[in-house]
Amino acid sequence: MILTSQYSLIMFPAASLLTTLLLALSIAASPVEVRNSPVTLPIARRLNTSGGTINLLQHDQSRAAALKSFKGDSTLSRRTGSITVTNDAVGYIAEVGVGSPATNYYLIVDTGSSNTWVGADTKYVKTSTSVDTGDAVEVTYGSGSFSGTEYTDTVTLGSGLTITAQSIGVAATSTGFTGVDGIIGIGPLILTEGTLTNYPDTTIPTVTDNLYSQGIISEIVVGISFEPTTTESDANGELTFGGVDATKYTGTLAYTPLTTTAPASYYWGINESITYGTTTILAETAGIVDTGTTLILLASNAYAEYKSATGATLDATTGLLRITTTQYSALKALNFVVGSNTYTLTANAQIWPRSLNAYIGGTTSYIYLVVNDLGTPSGEGLDFINGYTFLERFYSVFDTTHSQVGFATTAYTDATTN
Ligand SMILES: *[C@@H]1O[C@H](CO)[C@@H](O)[C@H](O)[C@H]1NC(C)=O
Ligand SMILES: *[C@@H]1O[C@H](CO)[C@@H](O)[C@H](O)[C@H]1NC(C)=O
Repeated sequence: MILTSQYSLIMFPAASLLTTLLLALSIAASPVEVRNSPVTLPIARRLNTSGGTINLLQHDQSRAAALKSFKGDSTLSRRTGSITVTNDAVGYIAEVGVGSPATNYYLIVDTGSSNTWVGADTKYVKTSTSVDTGDAVEVTYGSGSFSGTEYTDTVTLGSGLTITAQSIGVAATSTGFTGVDGIIGIGPLILTEGTLTNYPDTTIPTVTDNLYSQGIISEIVVGISFEPTTTESDANGELTFGGVDATKYTGTLAYTPLTTTAPASYYWGINESITYGTTTILAETAGIVDTGTTLILLASNAYAEYKSATGATLDATTGLLRITTTQYSALKALNFVVGSNTYTLTANAQIWPRSLNAYIGGTTSYIYLVVNDLGTPSGEGLDFINGYTFLERFYSVFDTTHSQVGFATTAYTDATTN
């Protein structure tokens, strides 16, 4: 305890004061700024093609279907979670230590699920800090699953930041996870409900929840920085727990309240509308922000409008939309209107990195779009997914304390990287 409060003091000299002021004023507070915080975790993006060609679309669409199927009111549906890991094709991975001495595990960073678990590849190594709770745990994802036993153990994030007695799943069996050890789930707490087989109404505090309850961070907030990448493996992402990293964005962070519309409301859901140029292709509706989806998926009607407006054709090999160089030159801005703020994807931000065409089974000289079909029409409570290809252009903040999501522009928002 003494150690953790020391951490607070060292790490957040201004934070407590800021928090106190904001609480005193009883206004909607903004997360504290964490500059050079040790509470950061580097994240690496990895495309694994050794299992064959990556089917990005299949991966994202089956994940979307699983996300939409969550009902939030029955144990069974709660157990059907959120992430799809098809052939471990695309992953955003953080290295997390468990135990003392710690064994390092490579975990998928997922804002769309909330259980943290290990053991899919590297087996769980018990140490003196490992406590077997004896509780069975099981999560079924889009096209993968794990089941095993819930332990509590010491979890180390980044350079030596330690959470004690973190509840973690230890997989006895898992499917759909190759080359990774499990998941660090940073979605809302409710997604853990129903995952403990014998205690269907019990939730399992997430890593972020425990950082807060153990006094290591002062708000239940995670800031995420991704940067566009054009290589197969690139450690250019960062998770910041407890606040935001002001060195990773430009301009001002703007926040929008979490949506009240289900099923988007079970995740990091927001309301937004989308325009292509000046044409509205999706009227204001609820959807989610998700690190585990690579593409930007739009309800089928909005997708059809985008396809028609861009003149793109469907590429049968990749499942992605394809445009000519002439059409690329004529691409208009794709605008995500959130409250009074508009986040614009430039033409370059709307295309898949051409240097990675081969990894998705594409042709080197072709131009593929990252916008695709959610697979269901709008009006179903989860009508878009702002996936990784959106998040690599905007800094994002997942703020449980103030029930909001924030975005800001970055040095890469308008960059020509693809
Ligand atoms: C890549 O995927 C294959 C099978 O799909 C798996 O055997 C291999 O371990 C993975 N490699 C990495 C580095 O993830
Ligand atoms: C989001 O949209 C829904 C449906 O139009 C509306 O009921 C709700 O008030 C909006 N705002 C939030 C924060 O959910």
